[in-house]
Amino acid sequence: MLCTMKAIQVHRAGGPEVLQLSDLPTPSPGPGQVLIRVKAAGLNFADILYVAGEYLVRTRYPTVPGMEFAGIIEALGEEVAGLQVGQRVAALGGSGAFAEYAVVHARSVLPVLPSMSAAEAAAFPVSYFTAYFALQTQARAQPGEWVLIQAAAGALGTASIQIAKALGLRVVALASSEEKLALCRSLGADVTLLNTQDNLVDAVKNATEGHGVDILMEVVGGAGFAQSLKMLAYRGRLLVIGSASRELAQIYPVGLMKGNQSVMGVWLTPFLSDPALMQAATAFLMPLLASGKVKPVVGERFKLEEAARAFDFVLSRKNTGKVILEP
Ligand SMILES: NC(=O)c1ccc[n+]([C@@H]2O[C@H](COP(=O)([O-])OP(=O)(O)OC[C@H]3O[C@@H](n4cnc5c(N)ncnc54)[C@H](OP(=O)(O)O)[C@@H]3O)[C@@H](O)[C@H]2O)c1
Repeated sequence: MLCTMKAIQVHRAGGPEVLQLSDLPTPSPGPGQVLIRVKAAGLNFADILYVAGEYLVRTRYPTVPGMEFAGIIEALGEEVAGLQVGQRVAALGGSGAFAEYAVVHARSVLPVLPSMSAAEAAAFPVSYFTAYFALQTQARAQPGEWVLIQAAAGALGTASIQIAKALGLRVVALASSEEKLALCRSLGADVTLLNTQDNLVDAVKNATEGHGVDILMEVVGGAGFAQSLKMLAYRGRLLVIGSASRELAQIYPVGLMKGNQSVMGVWLTPFLSDPALMQAATAFLMPLLASGKVKPVVGERFKLEEAARAFDFVLSRKNTGKVILEP
């Protein structure tokens, strides 16, 4: 292991132009920590917001972004049990993954199945845990219910289609192109609709035989939020999971009363420090992965030094599945 490493460093808030390939000291693991050689890192929309200083946690510059990755354990800090140097693992949480090496707490380390590539393992944690917590923990999805998934061909979207089908839900998938909708159908979506079409509310109502959707995974926000509320069924739950439009949305709370409807937030980060919920999620997800019933959709792959192009790619809505950065 060299004492310096390549990393994407950010000194100020901004878009892809602030990402700098830098030589930084290779971190060493403290007590309870693990040093991992990064083989592949997942690029999430949250990384774009984090770099821009618009995420739910404050960004402290300079920083190395990247919150999920897969790789090989290089060194263990003191007091780490149950992990071994040379082991293939994935990791979730914090920052620092857009680098050749990253240090994480041992409790942030996840197992990797032998059948999974590094890119698949890196594409898994954020999207699949979020999909599970959104549908199962927050919405308490019941088999047979309708779920509408926005940005359904993206990283979270493709994971959500797979988890929704595993939970016995009926899926309406929205995306911005026919190619993206074809991917959604291949993953099991029952109904696919272009999010650009006129009268989307009517189209969703027709597709669900007038019922509306029981659960709506809202990730765009802004002006479309009011439209999402109109798609909800009686006792429908609208999950606020993201705001890719980066625009404010308005809500009229009294309007929820007539249909006994709910609007609820979903954020992965607080769930990560709840051991009981993490255990339940892992127990649900790992057998599905092992059986091949769910399989992370790996999208475009970029070299670490192409991080700015990768950010541009996601911002211009070209990606399907998870964009991967490889050191
Ligand atoms: N709450 C949480 O814990 C959590 C966890 C994971 C993700 N998320 C959120 O879920 C959403 C998806 O995240 P992801 O990482 O999986 O990204 P992604 O879906 O792979 O990519 C973003 C997608 O959002 C759609 N989109 C709509 N308006 C957009 C805009 N103005 N600019 C760019 N994209 C736009 C595009 O799909 P179309 O072209 O098909 O419209 C685009 O492909 C984001 O809002 C993210 O913040 C939240």
